[in-house]
Amino acid sequence: MALLTGSNKINTAVFISGTGSNLKSLIKFSKLKKSPIIIKMIISNNSKAKGLQYSKIYKIKKKVFDFKNDVSEKKIVNELNKNKIDLICLAGFMKILSKSFIKNFRGKILNIHPSLLPKYKGLNTHEKAIKNKDKYSGCTVHFVNSKLDSGKIINQKKVRIKKFDTSKSLAKRILIQEHKLYPAAIKKILSL
Ligand code: GRF
Repeated sequence: MALLTGSNKINTAVFISGTGSNLKSLIKFSKLKKSPIIIKMIISNNSKAKGLQYSKIYKIKKKVFDFKNDVSEKKIVNELNKNKIDLICLAGFMKILSKSFIKNFRGKILNIHPSLLPKYKGLNTHEKAIKNKDKYSGCTVHFVNSKLDSGKIINQKKVRIKKFDTSKSLAKRILIQEHKLYPAAIKKILSL
């Protein structure tokens, strides 16, 4: 990871598939004077992703790719290189990146996951935590490696599961914590 010196900010791309509330919190974080990152691109596999609206609002370049094959991935890599992207933040990005893509950006891809990893990798984390009568769930930011939701953990936040929580109510409370956790993880890895 390139070190931050003076006013050099790390060129960052955020990958989304849906609402983009984490994207919004990362954009807000990037706008702080002391923030170590600048968000150069928003990338999505879904042209209808609600979060793409932030491209217009904050004047950030957006690109949509189907991520379906090598050709598409090559185009993305070219685009990221062209924009000198040094950090990729997956934020509600629902596609699994190929091994070669991950290799290309080794140590530079982060993901946020709505569980206390290593518990509940993959989908439906809140349902699983409630069904198992866990006392806590939470969220995790981790580096991305070739195994799903298994890369080195950067930070986590616990959230208590309440008696009458549904997956929806729990997801809502965890999301609030995600919005703080992701910027904190970025600060941590860039050792500020
Ligand atoms: C978040 O809970 C994230 O952890 C999960 O999908 C959700 C995306 O929310 N992977 P948003 O699109 O950032 O609002």
